[in-house]
Amino acid sequence: MYRTHNCGELRMEHVGQEVTLSGWVQGSRDIGFMMYTDLRDRYGLTQLLFNEEITDKDLFEKARTLGREYVIRVTGKVIERISKNPNLPTGNIEVEVSELEILNASKVPPFTITDETDGGDDLRMKYRYLDLRRKTVQQNLFFRSRLAVETRNYLSQEGFVEVETPVLIKSTPEGARDFVVPSRMNKGQFYALPQSPQTFKQILMVAGFDKYFQIVKCFRDEDLRADRQPEFTQIDCEMSFVTQEDILNTFEGLTKYLFKTVKDIDLPEFPRMFYDDALRLYGSDKPDTRFGMQFVELNDLAKGKGFPVFDNAELVVGICAEGAAGNYSNKDIKKLTEWMQRPQIDAKGLVYVKFNEDGSVKSSVGKFYSEEDLRAWGEKFDAKPGDMLLILCGETEKTRKQLNELRLEMGSRLGLRDPQTFKPLWVVDFPLLEWDEETERFHAMHHPFTSPKKHDVERMLNGDHETMKALRADAYDLVINGVEIGGGSIRIHDRELQSKNFKLLGFTPEEAEAQFGFLLGAFEYGAPPHGGIAFGFDRLCTVMSGQSSIRDFIAFPKNNQGRDMMIDAPSDIHDEQLEELSLLVNIKEE
Ligand code: AMO
Repeated sequence: MYRTHNCGELRMEHVGQEVTLSGWVQGSRDIGFMMYTDLRDRYGLTQLLFNEEITDKDLFEKARTLGREYVIRVTGKVIERISKNPNLPTGNIEVEVSELEILNASKVPPFTITDETDGGDDLRMKYRYLDLRRKTVQQNLFFRSRLAVETRNYLSQEGFVEVETPVLIKSTPEGARDFVVPSRMNKGQFYALPQSPQTFKQILMVAGFDKYFQIVKCFRDEDLRADRQPEFTQIDCEMSFVTQEDILNTFEGLTKYLFKTVKDIDLPEFPRMFYDDALRLYGSDKPDTRFGMQFVELNDLAKGKGFPVFDNAELVVGICAEGAAGNYSNKDIKKLTEWMQRPQIDAKGLVYVKFNEDGSVKSSVGKFYSEEDLRAWGEKFDAKPGDMLLILCGETEKTRKQLNELRLEMGSRLGLRDPQTFKPLWVVDFPLLEWDEETERFHAMHHPFTSPKKHDVERMLNGDHETMKALRADAYDLVINGVEIGGGSIRIHDRELQSKNFKLLGFTPEEAEAQFGFLLGAFEYGAPPHGGIAFGFDRLCTVMSGQSSIRDFIAFPKNNQGRDMMIDAPSDIHDEQLEELSLLVNIKEE
């Protein structure tokens, strides 16, 4: 028998019992005639005691050879500790070892297997199996597993059926690049890995499945960031005979259920915000609403007073940083301005107005505006003594984006973004199409299967170019703490409207037929009205845990270059393989 108990289990009530434990050696302290060794497994740590005076000499010598991460089995008696450790659940006892078997030796690990490790990112990824031994990393994955179980519980109770869709498919247009897989049997042809099961779940609705879900891997060949991985997991759902309202209610229900069961948090009803308002008030379609600091536009007050920079700008807009006036010296503001001028944000400058505690007003544009002018600005922002206005100007979209960055930064600096406070909201009424000036064509804002709002259908079928820019969609995002957790839409279920949408997106009828003929065909056989949503599961785990990197919730993530450092992928393949896949010629020609 390898064990009678695990390493997190023994308590005072076990004192006197003989037990057998197996696990990894966390570390040892040798004090001459006695040696203490911490034994670790998934469940906890137990202190082992090797006592030279009561065990035989050979056993004691063997214990001395134990290195970190050795795998051992011990048998011994549970005894009460003299110096107890109140920080450890097993801290009242120790096991006085009478038998020791080394099950496997270990090389010295390249970093310490502790909560706060000394291992750098790449090293930890290379030795992910060691990193995964750390309690903090394991707990993230246990959390993920729990969330998946509870998601399945909720959706099953609601009548959803889990259906697996294929991984070798034809490209789905979600806006990113596809990963492709060459087909050996169909020379020169490729499968694509799904960016999402979008078309399949719609086909399942045509087939009458009514409520579908799947916890599913998706693949997107895009630039990586803390909240993006090339392969990630969605909680993917679709429902028939539903309105946007039905979907928002069902998935608000799922989110509340998960917070309640997994974190014992009761979330109040989720507010809804129009996409246009999100951009106007926060400069982002995923606003972090844990704190206010909403944008206030100043065009009416700031223009026409002789300050050319504002006069020539399309938009003058700012935020009010509460209580910041006293904490920002000229030097600090200079630093903040430089931060805003970095290429990532690329602001031209930053204007401040301080409403000091002593009642005075100070501003970088004091030359152009009277104190009365500046106080009128302050009123518009509802600024109190001690507050500081930070103002940007320029082209509307760009300026809003820049101010969004500044707002988030100030929110962090002022301690307003507590990761254990959760503020979900629905952002609704996204535009249907997005005009791309560079390529001079429309893109689908969500994806090409998204339905315009009912009152926009007629305009979409018959309107002119400008009308198309103003069309709104039944499309929605779930945002929590400034992170886009999920997105979805009501779909087009009518062939004519779908064809019109493909045309707007620049597909010829032949191209649309070649790429989506199966879906358009299905729409001719009684497609029900339907809609759905997908949550980014990795992101949900990360935000619910109050963390920021989805990599910490993925067992085997890729690094920022899209590499798996442990298995060293992607990698070269043999010429024979290339030949078999008819790829050798192409690559050699390049
Ligand atoms: P969308 O493209 O908005 O919608 O994706 C849904 C959610 O998936 C998450 N997500 C990602 N997570 C990690 N890494 C990535 N690279 C990544 N890309 C997206 C986000 C996002 O909100 N088929 C539609 C859904 C629908 O319309 O029903 C879709 O995939 O949290």
